[in-house]
Amino acid sequence: MSKTIRVCVTGAAGQIDYSLLFRIASGEMFGTEQKVALNLLEITPALDALKGVAMELDDCAFPLLEEIVMTDDVNVAMKDVNWALLVGSKPRGPGMERGDLIKENGPIFTSTGKAINDHAADDVRVVVVGNPCNTNCLIAMHNAPDIPRDRFHAMTRLDENRAKSQLAEKAGVAVTEVKNMVIWGNHSATQVPDYKNATIAGKPATDVIGDLAYLQSEFISTVAKRGAAIIAARGKSSAASAANGLIDHVKSLLTPTPQGEVFSSCVCSDGNPYGIPEGLIFSFPCRSNGDGTYEIVPGFELDQHLTDGVAKTVAELESEREVIKNLLG
Ligand code: NAD
Ligand code: LMR
Repeated sequence: MSKTIRVCVTGAAGQIDYSLLFRIASGEMFGTEQKVALNLLEITPALDALKGVAMELDDCAFPLLEEIVMTDDVNVAMKDVNWALLVGSKPRGPGMERGDLIKENGPIFTSTGKAINDHAADDVRVVVVGNPCNTNCLIAMHNAPDIPRDRFHAMTRLDENRAKSQLAEKAGVAVTEVKNMVIWGNHSATQVPDYKNATIAGKPATDVIGDLAYLQSEFISTVAKRGAAIIAARGKSSAASAANGLIDHVKSLLTPTPQGEVFSSCVCSDGNPYGIPEGLIFSFPCRSNGDGTYEIVPGFELDQHLTDGVAKTVAELESEREVIKNLLG
């Protein structure tokens, strides 16, 4: 068995983490042979609720769970962590866009970034879930100047899973038949679910579905507005599916990506290979060698409809960056 992986999970008494923590501790994220230690961060008023979560983790007697640290001090929470899973932040309510959270949630990620910079393990990797996750990730990254930029991710894996599920249902096939379902851009209503490069049972999704108008309108809008639809139906934002997306995201970084396949992750653009402005946290097609690193996969071609969508999502990310430029250190 290899060395214990220490994972900081923020917002640990919240609804996403109530699904996430038990799956990490049971071995679903890092494997069933891998010991884990959990550093759980909450704001002070939620520490009692967090104790209850920790009691439940204890009561599962998970063989892989070596230690639980509970704290309201972000510097303690980030001590020696190999993974920082940044969930803690306010969710949106009905009628809001995720970007509306930026003024309230953005500042959380300055102190979090600094604490990661100063206290995390040398090999730390960061995944931001708290919304607006791309721009919060940008803030954390700028406040952690000693950590290589390629360690920072924001999550569009839930969007990818949503898109796969929609296509599978439309085509009447198992969801496992849908591959290369790339989400481009921001985790927001401007995201671009790429129907052109997706495949269903090895064939282009456009051929299998045979209805470009559906793909360009209903499909994209269902995926991009799914978060709002869940809030409308449940009265709360997605939680179990978000936790599941995060597990898939980390597993994809720790598993060699099968030949010819990709997964979606928001990572820092260096301008290549798709001409996305340098420095934006943007969702791209990625692959991994299975060691936690990734590369952006070149060669995906977009049609005019998708290209126009990419321009809009770039513009939105640039305007979000403008709003929080004072937090970028
Ligand atoms: P929640 O309100 O149930 O839980 C959030 C928790 O974070 C709360 O317990 C709160 O006390 C805690 N918190 C607030 N500020 C904190 C801070 N500074 N440090 C540590 N903890 C803090 O919310 P939730 O439903 O779990 O959602 C959490 C976030 O994830 C929201 O911003 C939501 O919009 C986002 N989200 C993102 C995705 C995605 O795909 N990227 C999917 C679902 C939800
Ligand atoms: C989601 O996609 O479900 C989350 O980002 C929550 C939200 O606000 O939509």
